[in-house]
Amino acid sequence: MKAILLLSIVSATSVYILIFVGGLVTRAGLGLSAGIDWPIPAQGLFPTSENFLEYFHRAWSGVVGLFIVGTAIFAWRGRSGITRIALLMSLATLLLVGAQILLGWLVLQSYLHPVVVAAHNNLASAIFATSIATVVLFSMPQKGPLQHAVAS
Ligand code: HEM
Repeated sequence: MKAILLLSIVSATSVYILIFVGGLVTRAGLGLSAGIDWPIPAQGLFPTSENFLEYFHRAWSGVVGLFIVGTAIFAWRGRSGITRIALLMSLATLLLVGAQILLGWLVLQSYLHPVVVAAHNNLASAIFATSIATVVLFSMPQKGPLQHAVAS
């Protein structure tokens, strides 16, 4: 399996886990359990049993960010050999994740305002959609010698 396809699958899986944990944080009413300071919570670097889920959500969002950045870098560096739509989809995912991290910060600063939390939830669905689309696009045939010849 090509490295970029594998990385896009790992990224989409990490997004799914983050959405699952985010849902748990909300349902358990733990949204502000680590305070509103970000990225480093005022309680310090290490979680307690009360705020573990919120810590994990924040920390895992950093891991997700790294996977998505990695996928986008791979796609950009190999752009001459992949379809334009696959490149655009991985860059779109990167853009949405950047926005989501800012929105996550706003979720905290707004003290979980319902509109901001709803926007955070919707954007999470969009990120999952584009990361799955990235997997599908990378699993399809990429630019071959013939397509290169036609394009040039
Ligand atoms: C790619 C990044 C992220 C994704 C996909 C994501 C996704 C989600 C999802 C799906 C929820 C559940 C929302 C609901 O059930 O209505 C959630 C909750 C939450 N997220 Fe994120 N999140 C991300 C990053 C962040 C970051 C960076 C922060 C903090 C700086 C953050 C803070 C929160 C908080 C505080 C909640 C709980 C909201 C509440 O209790 O109502 N998120 N997240």
